[in-house]
Amino acid sequence: MIITIDGPAASGKSTAARLLARKLGASFLDTGAMYRAVTLAAMQAEVDMSDQDKLLGVMEKSEFQFSLRDGKMVVCINGIDVTEQIRQPQITANARYIASSPKAREKLVEMQRQFASGWQKIVTEGRDQGTVAFSDADIKFYLIADSLERARRRQAELRAKGGDQSLEQIQKAIEERDKSDENRTVGPLRPAEDAIVVDTTDLSIEEVVEKLLSCVKEKCLKKN
Ligand code: C5P
Repeated sequence: MIITIDGPAASGKSTAARLLARKLGASFLDTGAMYRAVTLAAMQAEVDMSDQDKLLGVMEKSEFQFSLRDGKMVVCINGIDVTEQIRQPQITANARYIASSPKAREKLVEMQRQFASGWQKIVTEGRDQGTVAFSDADIKFYLIADSLERARRRQAELRAKGGDQSLEQIQKAIEERDKSDENRTVGPLRPAEDAIVVDTTDLSIEEVVEKLLSCVKEKCLKKN
């Protein structure tokens, strides 16, 4: 069983996917972490991020490992745990280079399919999971939320880690990222035709998970 959750930054995908996976006894894949890991490796190698072949070279030379620990994704590059490091704002800002490289995306989608093939049930989240990586997924969700609400959520996360960016700065960065995700030619951010769209603006994370879970149950009942 493959469940995909796509949507813009800070729409609640990651947390919802992780909690839904836990409730279903399924595995969980945070594909944004993959884009972030390649971005970090490219930054560490100091390559020109706009050069696709250089990016591919970095991907080929580095060993990426994505695994689950206590239901959370742990990311290692060449055996070094970079799970926290890939969340830094410079990585968030530079991920667009990898995200808009057709060759890098192709490789990452391949890695995502490979990861999923190892599990009977998986909840995978990102931008193109229902449209490209798993276009034949059993259930597809697309989460949306107002950009101000998303900025509030991101600010709370950043504050917990000692960050002090203003709400306006965060909202602007989120809206810029939406634009770049929606307008790239490969794997753009958009709902799959058969996706269930859920607006999370006024919902708590528990309510989001309940809603997704009830859709999954309904779909499973219909299938049987
Ligand atoms: O979801 P997260 O914010 O961690 O993703 C980081 C970046 O990776 C996003 O801004 C997006 O551009 C890119 N991404 C993507 N396709 C995915 C997942 C993430 O292009 N499936």
